[in-house]
Amino acid sequence: MQRGSACGKVILLGEHAVVYGVPAIVLGIDRGATALAVGPPTAAQSELTLGQTDRVTEDGASDVARAFAAILRACAVTRPVHVEVTTELPAGAGLGCSAALGVAIVRALDAWEGRPAATASDAAERAMAWEQVFHGNPSGIDATAAARGGCLLYQRMSGGMHLNEIALALPLTLAIGHSGVSSSTREMVDLVAKLKARNEENVTRSFEAIHSLVQNARLALEAGDHTGLGKLMDLNQVLLSGLMVSTEEIETMCRCAREEGALGAKLTGSGGGGCVVALIDGDPGRVVARWQKEGFRAFSTTVSSSVGTEERSRLP
Ligand code: MEV
Repeated sequence: MQRGSACGKVILLGEHAVVYGVPAIVLGIDRGATALAVGPPTAAQSELTLGQTDRVTEDGASDVARAFAAILRACAVTRPVHVEVTTELPAGAGLGCSAALGVAIVRALDAWEGRPAATASDAAERAMAWEQVFHGNPSGIDATAAARGGCLLYQRMSGGMHLNEIALALPLTLAIGHSGVSSSTREMVDLVAKLKARNEENVTRSFEAIHSLVQNARLALEAGDHTGLGKLMDLNQVLLSGLMVSTEEIETMCRCAREEGALGAKLTGSGGGGCVVALIDGDPGRVVARWQKEGFRAFSTTVSSSVGTEERSRLP
């Protein structure tokens, strides 16, 4: 049995703008996905099982089946295989569930083929074949975070990307809560594209403002200025609301988090539902408990200083 794993992600600042070449800050989180290449399939076609019930074969017509076929091609798999995947990440929640699954599958397929572990960038690139089926034309930030973890400044460039590791001066404590509504990244990205087509000047101005927030947030992370970072997250949330990707639940969750002492709070990922991330000074328990009292599922996590790129590229 050959195993691969990958982490989920939280975008701290810069979602949506990142699709248009603005840098964004992304963190790998300790919840993720695992894939096991368990052996040959029961039939001639490669098969993928998710949990107890969902099963697709590579010739199926569903999105998952087509994504599976695409990743088998990207990995040049030479013999049929049965892959089982599990994840602790909710789907359609902005935590990089599909990218974590994609990177984990790439790693399991490499192990199945007896190949040496791929570099993080190669694993992320091949996982994009899977991501594109679900999300259309994603920026690639999710797959990169899934393959590398740590804290990254990610910028999409024509024909590639620019990546910088951000050295965290202090660990980050985050509360992450689910609005209870799942959303489609593809639809939310389309919605912003339509808004931009209708209102080019305003949306471009919002992206420029997000760009400066991201640059300042990088400095705040490197200096350990979490109070400043929280304020930048709040400002990013205002700009995201202006891009029409926030919802009533997200606004409620941000307000509750701030009332319970969070340094800043915003949606993370594509919005339209999904998750809110709140930056915490000290114990995240108050924010998590308040969200739960209001009926939202929530957990907390800590992100410490980045581990080295080489170490991450050797993730199992
Ligand atoms: C996805 O997690 C965040 C978006 O910026 C889309 C993308 O980067 O592909 C909304």
